[in-house]
Amino acid sequence: MKGIGLYIHIPFCKKKCFYCDFTSMAGRYDLVERYIDYLIMEISLYKDRIGDCPIETIFIGGGTPSSIDDVYIKRVLDYIYDNFNTNYLKEISIEANPGTLTLEKASAYRESKIDRISLGLQTTQDEMLKDIGRIHRVDDFYRSYNILKECGFDNINVDLIFGLPNQALKDVIGDLEVVTSLEIPHISYYSLIVEPDTPMYEWHRNGRLNLPDEDTERLMYHKGIEFLKSRGYEHYEISNFAKKGYQCKHNILYWKVEPYVGVGLGSHSNIYGKRYWNTSKFDVYFKQLDEGLMPTSGEEIIHRGMEMAEYCILGLRLIDGIDIGKFKDRFGSSIYDIYGEQILKHSKNKLLREKSGKIALTRKGLDLANLVEVDFFP
Ligand SMILES: C[S@@+](CC[C@H](N)C(=O)[O-])C[C@H]1O[C@@H](n2cnc3c(N)ncnc32)[C@H](O)[C@@H]1O
Ligand code: SF4
Repeated sequence: MKGIGLYIHIPFCKKKCFYCDFTSMAGRYDLVERYIDYLIMEISLYKDRIGDCPIETIFIGGGTPSSIDDVYIKRVLDYIYDNFNTNYLKEISIEANPGTLTLEKASAYRESKIDRISLGLQTTQDEMLKDIGRIHRVDDFYRSYNILKECGFDNINVDLIFGLPNQALKDVIGDLEVVTSLEIPHISYYSLIVEPDTPMYEWHRNGRLNLPDEDTERLMYHKGIEFLKSRGYEHYEISNFAKKGYQCKHNILYWKVEPYVGVGLGSHSNIYGKRYWNTSKFDVYFKQLDEGLMPTSGEEIIHRGMEMAEYCILGLRLIDGIDIGKFKDRFGSSIYDIYGEQILKHSKNKLLREKSGKIALTRKGLDLANLVEVDFFP
């Protein structure tokens, strides 16, 4: 039986970072106990839906899962271990903020069989951390790293952001130098997105953000790729780099459009030919579950055309690209019969290339992926 991925959302943070629009509430720890009860209630609704289908990966994300007491994480995982088929689990990840990770929490995670930790570092400069609203300093990152090593965690990811206000190329190379010298096996290297409804968006609108210009931002990306490759990392997804054997299995499942269930506020699911998404409001989440309903706020049937488009759009995020043979196996048609025109157009303008039975973005295509994507929409 084909397995699924399970995403669990923990929507709490100590404080909102100035750039972030993820579904999370700052300082509402009074809601945690109730939220976890309802989260388990939601998970219980899946007993009939997924039955004995194996859960292959679990990703506990947020918000900041490490900012709540570890007993809650244990409660949720124990419930899953007791009620679902977890015999084929390959990976259990959790996101942590260096300002909220403690030795007690990390060792509790280990006892709960969590085997991958993702640390949000963003930059290795204290001044910049303060300017983007982070609650931690660089020293907290080193402290967290030592805690993880002490607890025997070896599968560690670090999130970095480039293109931050007042950041120069030498700053981001310095960040990569710090992280790679610690032999961290997985690095997410994100380009800053100035999201609407964030303080940064307002500052940007008012001309108060000194962001790197577009050329510098792209240089940060490509020099970052070069640097990481020179340190033995494989660039396997637009923003992700890993040492051999350390790619994130859960995220790969999204990029390959395999089935997954998301539980908790604002999470998404894609299973049994349907996509649906949960409400992002606490009161609605609690109310719908009180009524025995799924806490969703929308759903759609994924028809074949849409699934093929998603398979291509997400598949192109992977540096290896789309496997032509696998496309045929999955959809029963050649990718050229469906998307021949798009592939030809973007091969001519050097955004796509075909190599060894795969269609992938070129170096130039990595910068202009959105131009390719739009042409695949049904
Ligand atoms: C849920 S957070 C990680 C865990 C934890 N909340 C933390 O921040 O330490 C996921 C990651 O998304 C990235 N991120 C969030 N907002 C972003 C934005 N506007 N632009 C680029 N990266 C962003 C950050 O690198 C962040 O670490
Ligand atoms: S980046 Fe992480 S800590 Fe900051 S607000 Fe977003 S989810 Fe919370």
